[in-house]
This record gives sequence, C-alpha cells and structure tokens, in this order.
Amino acid sequence: MSSAGKLSPATAIFIIIIILLSSFSGNFTVGCYTSIFSFGDSLADTGNSLHLSQTIGYHVNSGTFPFGQTYFHRPTGRFSDGRLIIDFIAQHLGLELIPPYFGERNHDMFMPGINFAVGGSTAMNDSFFDQKGIHEPYKNVSLIHQLSWFKQILPSYCHQSNCREIFNNSLFLLGEIGGNDYNHAFADGRSFEEIQTFVDPVIHSISNTIIELIEIGAVTFIVPGNLPIGCISIYLNNFSNSSKDYYDPETGCIIWLNEFSQYHNDKLQTELTRIRDLHPHTTIIYADYYNSAMAIFRNPSNYGFKEGELGPCCGGSNDKVSSSKNTDEKYSCDGPETKTCDDPSEYINWDGTHLTEAAYKWIFKGLLKDYSYPPMENSLCNGGLSLHHNEL
Ligand SMILES: *[C@@H]1O[C@H](CO)[C@@H](O)[C@H](O)[C@H]1NC(C)=O
Ligand SMILES: *[C@@H]1O[C@H](CO)[C@@H](O)[C@H](O)[C@H]1NC(C)=O
Ligand SMILES: *[C@@H]1O[C@H](CO)[C@@H](O)[C@H](O)[C@H]1NC(C)=O
Ligand SMILES: *[C@@H]1O[C@H](CO)[C@@H](O)[C@H](O)[C@H]1NC(C)=O
Ligand SMILES: *[C@@H]1O[C@H](CO)[C@@H](O)[C@H](O)[C@H]1NC(C)=O
Repeated sequence: MSSAGKLSPATAIFIIIIILLSSFSGNFTVGCYTSIFSFGDSLADTGNSLHLSQTIGYHVNSGTFPFGQTYFHRPTGRFSDGRLIIDFIAQHLGLELIPPYFGERNHDMFMPGINFAVGGSTAMNDSFFDQKGIHEPYKNVSLIHQLSWFKQILPSYCHQSNCREIFNNSLFLLGEIGGNDYNHAFADGRSFEEIQTFVDPVIHSISNTIIELIEIGAVTFIVPGNLPIGCISIYLNNFSNSSKDYYDPETGCIIWLNEFSQYHNDKLQTELTRIRDLHPHTTIIYADYYNSAMAIFRNPSNYGFKEGELGPCCGGSNDKVSSSKNTDEKYSCDGPETKTCDDPSEYINWDGTHLTEAAYKWIFKGLLKDYSYPPMENSLCNGGLSLHHNEL
C-alpha cells in the first residue's frame, strides 16, 4: 500500500470527530424540539427545591432515600421514587433529562433546556397569602420568581438573533402550578367557597406567564391542569368522613375535592382557549392530568396497581385510606427508616402527596393517547415521538 493511501493519525482522528459530531447533531434533529423550559411545582421539580433547601436551610424530604430508589437509585430532589412526567416527556422527545436551574447546572451548555419548577411553589406570590393570613412556608419561589429567573438567564443563553429561533424549537411546560395555592388554604381549614375565589387570580397568573413567554418568543406550550386531589392520600386522610356518600363509590375518592380540581381545570381551559385565539401562531396543549389520572383510579389493576389501594407506598399507613377514620398517623416519607412498600409500581401514591413513577408513566401515556387537547401525538413533532416509544 502506498503511503499516499494511508490516513495520517491526525486525519483519522479528524474523521472520527466529524462522524461523532454528525451523529450528535443527528440526535438533535430527530425530534423537532431541542429543549424544554419548565415552570411549576413539585410535580415537575427535578432538583431545585433540594438545592434551595441546602442554601436557605429548610428541610425537604426529597433529598433522602427512598426518594429516587426506582430509576435513579439515589435521591435527586424529585418528589417520587423515580421519574416524573417531565422526564417522560423529555425522554420521549429524545432529549436528556432537564437539569434544574439551581445546583449543578452546566452554565455553558444547557442543550436540553432548563427546569425552573420548585417544590412548594405557588402561582400567586407571597403577598397574596400574607393578605389572606395563610401561612405559606416557601418564600420567593412563586411563578413570578420562576419567570424572572428565566429572564435573567436569557442574555447568557441566546443572543437577539438566535433567541427566537431557539424558542421556536423549544417546548414550554407550564405547570402543574396552582395546586399549592389551594393546598395551603385547605390545610388551613378554609372553606370550599373561599378557596374557590383563589381560582381566578391563580389562572390569571398562569395566563400572564404564558403571554409574557409568547412575547419573548415561546411558541409551543404544554399546560397541565390539576390532579384529582380528592384521590390523593393526604387529602383522604385529612378530610375523611364517616358518611358513605361523601366518597365516589367507583374510586373511593372524595367527591367535593375532585369537584374543586375540575373547577380549576375548567377555568384554565377557558383561559387557554382565549390565549389561542389571541395568538393563533402558537400551539397551546392542555394536558389533562385530571382525567388521565382518573382513568387509573377507576381501573387500578389494569395498570398493575393494587385494587382499592389509595394509601401511599412510603410512610403513613398502607391500609385503604378512605375506610380508615381520621387518625394521628402522619404521612411522613422521610429518611431510610421510613416504612416503604415492597413494590412501588403497585402503588399510585408515593409519599402521601406525590405519585409514584409508575403512576406518572401511565398518566403520561394517557396524555399522549387520549388526554391532551389538541392531541399531543399530532401537535408535537413526529420523529421524536415515535422513536422513543420503547423506552416506556
Ligand atoms: C406580587 O404580585 C402582585 C400582583 O400580581 C404584584 O403587584 C407584586 O409586585 C408582586 N410582589 C412581588 C414581591 O413579586
Ligand atoms: C424574598 O425576597 C424579598 C425581596 O427580594 C427579600 O427581602 C426576602 O428576604 C426574601 N425572603 C426569603 C425568605 O428569601
Ligand atoms: C419557527 O418555525 C416555523 C415552523 O416550523 C417556521 O415557519 C418559522 O420560520 C420559524 N421561525 C423562526 C423565527 O425560526
Ligand atoms: C394534612 O394534615 C397535616 C397534619 O395536620 C398537615 O401538615 C398538612 O398540611 C395537611 N395537608 C392538607 C393538604 O390538608
Ligand atoms: C361528613 O360529610 C357531611 C356531608 O356529606 C357533613 O355534613 C358532615 O359534617 C361531615 N362530617 C365530618 C365528621 O366531617
């Protein structure tokens, strides 16, 4: 072989690098979303509140085992045993999991986006709760603050010329948010009627955030509604009642609390319709967490969950919550000593308040198939969607 036909080592390395680079860029062009920006509360927090708790000094349980045991095999700050809906969305689009804004974020390369969601976060800011005399323990993490963090990173993230192009290819996950605004009030013993008056301001705050993001260049949104809170273990425990017709006979969930979630969700959808009409170039997908979750609560065994089990896997009692009266039992999943079920995939509820990875996975699958408007399957780009089905 003549020496002219041989590749010099430098040339060979160069070619290998080119091949590697082109396969990476191939990855990014498979789905048409290159990044996700997320705002919300513990349902989407991938580590922010854990990091904030370490710097501000309040305790969050999501930094201790058994949190994270299922997928990550370590606590990541997620409020579950494993992945959240935002993680399933990211994996489905062929993206890396979305790094939290606080913590070990790599400041030069946030290719898959940034997650601003913080556990405990509210849609309304602190002054709203102060005015109503409601104790709201997590300060300065409302939706307004999350939006301001996003605006702060913009100059380092993109330049005027390419911001719009980047956001054009980004998915904005806005929520779930608002659940805590109501939680704090319910926990404080406020009436259904009073808490109902919070819904308009909460929706207004969500809506303002969407519109500000559209003005910055956001085009595609997923906006989740509230979960059926009447099916959540901690609510079943705190608001139990001996009267039988207090509960939905089909699911064992508390009827009036689920009606509250639906009240919020109806108003949210009306507002999303208004925003779509005002901004016809945008795609605003309503993610119906409520009905996707209710499908599971109606038929738990179809999804591999224990029939009639509304209690959490970790902490509290594993008895059917709705049949037990108000007890002193604390729903506390905190630290390796906590009593944890053998198989979290048989439980919908993880820690009393949040759901298991298995439940989030099924809710996500439901969103893809039936429970989003306009349908996610058609509205999100095709490549990334079909490619990663097997990962679930
Ligand atoms: C809280 O929200 C109100 C109304 O949206 C706003 O006027 C006020 O400046 C906000 N306060 C803080 C501290 O962000
Ligand atoms: C919240 O922000 C305000 C205004 O920036 C500040 O004065 C206050 O100390 C902050 N509170 C907490 C708990 O961080
Ligand atoms: C955004 O994407 C749409 C459709 O994919 C395209 O028509 C439009 O030119 C893009 N706008 C920018 C600023 O990149
Ligand atoms: C349930 O009760 C516990 C103990 O009193 C309280 O800490 C928690 O905030 C309550 N949660 C709700 C959603 O009512
Ligand atoms: C149980 O619910 C009924 C209404 O369905 C209400 O009248 C009653 O006060 C409740 N009891 C308790 C102990 O909360």
